[in-house]
Amino acid sequence: MQGFASVLAGMPFAALLIGPDARIHATNAAARELLGEGIEGRHFLTALRQPDVLDAIEETGRDRQPRRTTIQTSEAGRDSTFQVHVAHVDAGPAARGVLVSFEDLTEREQAAQMRRDFVANVSHELRTPLTALMGFIETLQGPARHDQAAIDRFLAIMAREAARMERLVHDLLSLSRVESEERVRPRTPVDLAATIGTVITMLRPLAQERGCTMDFAGGEGFVVPGNADQLQQVFTNLVENAIKYGGAGNRVEITLAHHARDATLRMPAIQASVRDHGPGIDPLHIPRLTERFYRVDTHRSREMGGTGLGLAIVKHIVNRHRGRLRITSEPGAGCTFAVILPRWTG
Ligand SMILES: Nc1ncnc2c1ncn2[C@@H]1O[C@H](COP(=O)(O)OP(=O)(O)OP(=O)(O)O)[C@@H](O)[C@H]1O
Ligand SMILES: [Mg+2]
Repeated sequence: MQGFASVLAGMPFAALLIGPDARIHATNAAARELLGEGIEGRHFLTALRQPDVLDAIEETGRDRQPRRTTIQTSEAGRDSTFQVHVAHVDAGPAARGVLVSFEDLTEREQAAQMRRDFVANVSHELRTPLTALMGFIETLQGPARHDQAAIDRFLAIMAREAARMERLVHDLLSLSRVESEERVRPRTPVDLAATIGTVITMLRPLAQERGCTMDFAGGEGFVVPGNADQLQQVFTNLVENAIKYGGAGNRVEITLAHHARDATLRMPAIQASVRDHGPGIDPLHIPRLTERFYRVDTHRSREMGGTGLGLAIVKHIVNRHRGRLRITSEPGAGCTFAVILPRWTG
């Protein structure tokens, strides 16, 4: 490849050159992928369709001033956003004209949208308990001022709402900490059987309260490179979910298994599974469960004091450990959350 085409080939995004005869003289592979093979040699009006881009090309051809415009495209069900840069270039007779390049802003736009959604979600989650608190404060200052029974009842509700806000702030901080460390791989040997044993001891009162039994056989040699506190957090949330959403009389089984070689991780691995026999989860929801604030039944989760951040934290911790989380469910027969982690090799 030579001439201007080789310059275009070296550019990081789709680009093409329109010559003084208004035809497309050169393109790079990204431009052909975006606009179709065979656009070279065509009049630009037949190859490009966005009116804003066509106007910019015509104007820049006339006054030689650079321009840019933003366009949205929707190809094969995928919405994309591009910033289109239009500039006059003159690098000799074979490389003269209007250079059009397409900077893909889709990922940046999506990240910005996620940030906006996140802020909206956090505000909403905080506002609900806050509104309740303010309502009760007003009642206690006014009508219920001398009603001791009402005061006791309202204070109990206020304490619960305040605890909920505290839990939310705690989970948000935890999520942001895990996210910021996600690229740092933890390297301390952690015995998963011991970690799960601790989790079971801590959750026994909750399980008893819900009439739920927990089965765990333990075992030797289930060691992974990890961060003990974070792995404990993972199993606390998974076992707690199994207890909370599994329903009364539920049985939660926690098992550990060795895999000589995990197909996805491509190395020896340990699988820790938490299985319950509750109502399960409709497969429809499974891909979204690890999104922040995603709940299958918002009302039920809130009632149980959940923030909807548990599985988002689990996923980030598992990612940080270079492992994976697999969720399977048979509606009506419970679900299994399997955490697969690389085995400690010393
Ligand atoms: N074992 C399970 N059985 C049925 N549904 C479940 C199970 N585990 C999780 N879910 C569903 O997934 C949702 C998300 O779980 P997640 O742990 O992220 O949030 P949460 O439990 O509501 O709140 P938190 O974990 O912060 O207390 C839950 O609200 C629930 O609807
Ligand atoms: Mg949870």
